[in-house]
Amino acid sequence: MTTSSSSAAEKNIKIESLKKIVILFVLFLVLFIIFYLRNHENNEYIIKTLELNGSITEGDSLFKTNCVGCHGITARGLVGPDLHSITARLNDKEIIKQVTGGLTPPMPSFEIEPQNMANLLKYLHTLE
Ligand code: HEC
Repeated sequence: MTTSSSSAAEKNIKIESLKKIVILFVLFLVLFIIFYLRNHENNEYIIKTLELNGSITEGDSLFKTNCVGCHGITARGLVGPDLHSITARLNDKEIIKQVTGGLTPPMPSFEIEPQNMANLLKYLHTLE
């Protein structure tokens, strides 16, 4: 009698831990899929942006409306760093990630169309 009830209890414990493993696995899978989709989306965005031809004047005005508050009217830096020669320090992909990613607060992430991102990039390339 005691042996059968204790083995039933053992079975319960096994089922419980199996449930936990399954839940963890599903959680991991969902996170992986979200990460994969986001990464895929980011890559598509970067490829699209790099294919486009930017306009320096458009990029200049985008910079004046969105970036000067922190990087200064001549991009010599205020709260944010000096952006002259930025294209020598970071490649285009890294700059796109910096602008759209929001990876380094207090710099916000910008939701910006690929064409506008291409314009900004072109402008940043003129800052020597
Ligand atoms: C709210 C302030 C703020 C705004 C607005 C802002 N930035 Fe920044 N940015 C920063 C700060 C602060 C850093 C430094 C982050 C760090 O290095 O940890 C930075 C870093 C950068 C860097 C990397 C510099 C380096 O030397 O690694 C680039 C490129 C950049 N910003 C571009 C832009 C562009 C383009 C815009 C406009 C679309 C913009 N930022 C708007 C605050 C801002």
